[in-house]
Amino acid sequence: MARVFVTHEIAGEALGRLRAAHDVKVWPGELQPSAEELRAAVADVEGLLCMLTDTIDLSLIAAAPRLRAIANYAVGFDNIDLASARARGIAVGNTPDVLTDATADLAFALLLASARRLVEAERAVRNGAWQTWEPTRWNGASVYGATLGIVGFGRIGQAVARRAEGFAMTVLATPATPLDELLERSDFVSLHCPLTEQTWHLIDETALRRMKPSAIIINTARGAIIDQQALAAALRDHAIAGAALDVTDPEPPPHDDPLFDAPNVTLLPHIGSATHSARSQMTELAVANLLAGLDGQPMPHPAT
Ligand code: GLV
Ligand code: GLV
Repeated sequence: MARVFVTHEIAGEALGRLRAAHDVKVWPGELQPSAEELRAAVADVEGLLCMLTDTIDLSLIAAAPRLRAIANYAVGFDNIDLASARARGIAVGNTPDVLTDATADLAFALLLASARRLVEAERAVRNGAWQTWEPTRWNGASVYGATLGIVGFGRIGQAVARRAEGFAMTVLATPATPLDELLERSDFVSLHCPLTEQTWHLIDETALRRMKPSAIIINTARGAIIDQQALAAALRDHAIAGAALDVTDPEPPPHDDPLFDAPNVTLLPHIGSATHSARSQMTELAVANLLAGLDGQPMPHPAT
């Protein structure tokens, strides 16, 4: 039996299998443990099941001398210093595939919502601002037949492209279409690349200014892929028409973030994988990774 720390309550039956095999503690808080709390919690554990909100850096790894296996409850693993984990021989796993369709669905929901101004229009009905059918007030962008640029054509990007077929969209994707050309031609740009040193602020002021003034950007990947200050400025200047973001940097954005004052922004609280089925399958994968790693076996879904 190994000691295992789980940093948040998670859905699904698989946690029971982990409990049957190991001595499992689950952080009881609604919020994630602070860096100090996390360091204290991992001092004597061999296994860690963590969320994307937990920063697993060199200092955390150094505070966990017995740690052998980390299962990230996410497909993205930019929260983990992989090189430091590798240097210590710690196995790291993630949860790919099972959240692909959920995230692609959400990207498409954001695309449609932003194109047709759903959030703004719904608010008007609720607050009494809607008085009559209006021929011009709520006009938005056409989705059917428009051009969609997909940045990052991996599992989720390809799943978004499949949805776009039903809307007769012309799909451009990196790297087959160079980023600059994709930005210039697309009516909608949807981000699906991982956050790495190379993609940090990939969508900066120059990139945003390449986009059409009528274009909308959708981000269900990681907030820091976009330079958020530059995005708020581009929206204010009408250099682009809208942004629909499931992810921001930081999360949540602070009250005074310029995004809140920018026009045509739709914001969600990082819910790309939040379906009952995706979340319980993520538990399955994370538990399978941890059981294998603690057993000295290769993880079924290693983070690479
Ligand atoms: C969610 O953002 C994930 O990476 O799974
Ligand atoms: C809209 O409701 C229409 O009938 O055109």
